[in-house]
This record gives sequence, structure tokens and C-alpha cells, in this order.
Amino acid sequence: MLQAVEGTQLSVDTSKQHLASFVKWAGGKTSLLPDLLPHIPHRLTSYYEPFLGGGALFFGICARTTSFSAHLSDTNEELINAYRVIKESPDELISFLSRFQKEYDSAPDQSAYFYQKRDWRPTGRVESAARLIFLNKTCYNGLYRVNSKGVFNVPFGRYKNPRILNSGSIHAVSQVLQNTRADLRTIDYKDALAPCGTADFIYLDPPYQPPSKTSSFTDYTADGFSEKDQEELAEEFGKLADKGCMVLLSNSDTAFTRHLYHDFEITKVTVNRPINSVGTGRKGYKELIVLGRPKKN
Ligand SMILES: C[S@@+](CC[C@H](N)C(=O)[O-])C[C@H]1O[C@@H](n2cnc3c(N)ncnc32)[C@H](O)[C@@H]1O
Repeated sequence: MLQAVEGTQLSVDTSKQHLASFVKWAGGKTSLLPDLLPHIPHRLTSYYEPFLGGGALFFGICARTTSFSAHLSDTNEELINAYRVIKESPDELISFLSRFQKEYDSAPDQSAYFYQKRDWRPTGRVESAARLIFLNKTCYNGLYRVNSKGVFNVPFGRYKNPRILNSGSIHAVSQVLQNTRADLRTIDYKDALAPCGTADFIYLDPPYQPPSKTSSFTDYTADGFSEKDQEELAEEFGKLADKGCMVLLSNSDTAFTRHLYHDFEITKVTVNRPINSVGTGRKGYKELIVLGRPKKN
């Protein structure tokens, strides 16, 4: 629905007011959107985001247009399940979250309620999505971290009045996933990129290369993303650019990442990053944006 904003000529699509990541995600790119969005082509036909996480750029694009097809993937199975459930069964999900919100708000011991949900192993896909969203909104810093057995182990976050249910957000996300006919897959980025060709736009936002050994927070799933993985990704990036795909990548600005992408157009930006391992240094974090067009000599 379009509505004129009072006193201006602007129109705002009210159905998209709630459009943003439905989870807080380590390395989420909301604060980098002003630097990323200008690189999105006006004529976007096919969009690949194989390190999806909270999908900040995907939602940023959808706030402008949903006239493209989306190929969204991540190795985090629980996360991809949540996207699928939002796309296909938003109302069922909302009824679970609404119950969790009421139970949490009235729980005599909210920490105990959190740990009870953390220990719960739901078998249904909607319940599993509801648990992931509940834990994301109530755990420490909205982190997703699992132990070597793949069991979520982030402690209670002690937030005042966390918003576990945001039905406006769930409906808005569901709508854009449907409009873009999003295919949502739990696969490694290399498999996700195998079908890419010339008309495709690809955004790569891998787990960060840590700027120093002490600030490593790259274990988004049971598998970390090593230096070797970063090198293989850079190779993949080159192959995609050679195929004629448009490739955009973000990573931390380190000597190592600058070297990996020295053949390409690099922009250095400074942003606030919402999550890091030690809870300090949230301001002025240096990032690289790399464009997959070979350098002109
Ligand atoms: C930096 S986060 C992406 C953040 C996202 N751009 C956002 O705005 O929230 C990186 C993501 O890559 C995923 N990942 C890690 N290794 C992967 C792999 N080999 N293939 C695909 N996804 C992977 C992680 O599960 C994590 O969600």
C-alpha cells in the first residue's frame, strides 16, 4: 500500500515499513547498506546471496524492488528453516511466538524459561523456527553459536522487554520472500554458486577474516571459516568475475584480505559493527567492499 508522507512528495510503501532482518546476526550488514546498495544494478534479474545470515542486503534491496528472483542460502540449517517457515507458514509461526512472548513476559524466572527453551529439541519445522527466533531475541547479544555437537550454547541475554514477536516484520519478510520466489537452501556457498552465469548478481559476505587472533568470531556454525577458506573464496570470486557475473563482496579490512582481492576494485569503509567477540571496538570498524570487475590498467 502506498501512502504519501505528510508535507513531502515522497511515497512510502507501508507494507515494507517493517522490512529488515528478522534476526540479529553476527556480521549483519545493516550499517553497511549505504555503501552496498549503490552497487546494486537497477535492472536486477537474478540475485544470489550464499552467506545469507540475517540477509540485510537482500531486505535492503527488497525495500526498493522485488522484481527479481532470489537464490538465498547458508550452511546454517536452522536459520534456513526459519526463512522457509516465514515464507510458507507465517501465521503458524506467529501463533507460536505469540505464546512464547506471553509465557516469557509472565514467567517468574525469565532466565529459567530461556534455558528451558534452549534445552528443548523440537521436531516440527515451525516449532524449530520459533525456538530459533525466541533464542535470538533473548540470548546474549543475539549471537548464534553452537558447540562441537551442533548444540546452541549462547547464555541468557538479560534484556528488558525483548520483542520476541514482531508480526509486522514476519508478514513483511514473508511477502518479499514470496514476491522474489526465493529459493532457500542449506548448502555450501560453492554449490550455491555453481549455476551462476552472466546475468546474475552475487553478494558474498563470508564469515570475517579476524583482524587479530583475539577477535575471532567466525564460528557461525560448527564449521569455522579458515584462512584457506578465505583463499578459496577469493579464487571463486575471480572465476565468477571471469564468467561475467557481477560480484560484490564484503570482508574485514586486513592485509590478508587486501592481498586476496588486489586485482579488483576495492573500497575501504568504516562502519559500526553491532557484534564482536569482546563487546568493545563497536565503532569505526574497517571493512572492505570488493567489486568483481577486473581492474582497468
Ligand atoms: C557474515 S555472516 C552473513 C551476514 C549477513 N550478510 C547479514 O547481513 O546478516 C556469514 C554467514 O555465512 C554462513 N556460512 C559460513 N560458512 C559457510 C559456507 N561454507 N557456505 C555458506 N554459508 C556459510 C554463516 O552461517 C553466516 O550466516
